[in-house]
Amino acid sequence: MKRISLTQHLIEQQREHNSIPAELRLLIEVVARACKTISHAVGKGALGDVLGTAHSENIQGEVQKKLDVISNEILLEANEWGGHLAAMASEEMESIHPIPNRYPMGEYMLLFDPLDGSSNIDVNVSIGTIFSVLKAPEGMRTPHEQDFLQPGTRQVAAGYAVYGPQTVLVLSTGNGVHCFTLDREMGSWVLTQRDMKIPAQTKEYSINTSNSRHWHAPVKRYIAELEEGQGGPRGKDFNMRWVASMVADVHRILTRGGIFMYPADTREPDKPGKLRLMYEANPMAFLVEQAGGAATDGRGRILDIQPVKLHQRVPVFLGSKEEVERVTAYHADN
Ligand code: AHG
Ligand code: MN
Ligand code: MN
Repeated sequence: MKRISLTQHLIEQQREHNSIPAELRLLIEVVARACKTISHAVGKGALGDVLGTAHSENIQGEVQKKLDVISNEILLEANEWGGHLAAMASEEMESIHPIPNRYPMGEYMLLFDPLDGSSNIDVNVSIGTIFSVLKAPEGMRTPHEQDFLQPGTRQVAAGYAVYGPQTVLVLSTGNGVHCFTLDREMGSWVLTQRDMKIPAQTKEYSINTSNSRHWHAPVKRYIAELEEGQGGPRGKDFNMRWVASMVADVHRILTRGGIFMYPADTREPDKPGKLRLMYEANPMAFLVEQAGGAATDGRGRILDIQPVKLHQRVPVFLGSKEEVERVTAYHADN
């Protein structure tokens, strides 16, 4: 079988859909290269100085792991000098990161969760990187946080890497979702799945049930009905999976369907849910919709939300369309 590299795929997509100009291709290739470097660091484990805590906190008040900091540095360094970006923003940095003056400024803006699933690093469970690409507003000279606050519908590309038994990169530039596997010997990304599609129906759900006592009524109702199985209102048995790395849970859903939920609950009403809109929910919602699934905050489409701040949180329901529509309808009934 002829192997198609990431570069060849991007060039062919540009020819076919005119959706990947050279600067955007460079950006995606640089991010992919950074993910390769992160994958290499992850793979060292106890043999490298990569496990454990960095003894610092991020803007969310979460203790940073060494790999959170290392991955953030790798992405910043890789993307600074190419001339394709105007600014970057990351889960691990309170403020945006403009491109230093010594480098030319490009027209794109990159947001990332450098290391998703931090609680799984030290226990050797799949983790990943999530990224989102926006265009800088017309005429922007000095980038500010405000310039990033665009709804997810304006993303020109989004993707994630999973560092698991295999390292994969899943990508969309608005013409379907495509998966690449890292050939570790060759150091290259090879197209291994074109046009990933999420089945509309599923028997698998994903939620951290240890929070169930805090859930709001629509989520309690939805999960209770799933748990009742064949004898309940749904008339079929459901299975449950929770990796605690969004990248791994979403990758499973893109591969074989399912619904993933991280709802808001009765705790801290000013922090709805756990996941961040701009570099977790938006890129994943973009990919899921491109694969025929749906993504809502329980009320409306995630991609339509007008962000008000960089690190804002959002409730997330995403995956197989019929299930996402059902749990969203339960919120409307409430
Ligand atoms: P991060 O490691 O970037 O902070 O993200 C972790 C997120 C997400 O990946 C995962 O779905 C969720 O937190 C896990 O939450 P619980 O600890 O509640 O299981
Ligand atoms: Mn994350
Ligand atoms: Mn993270």
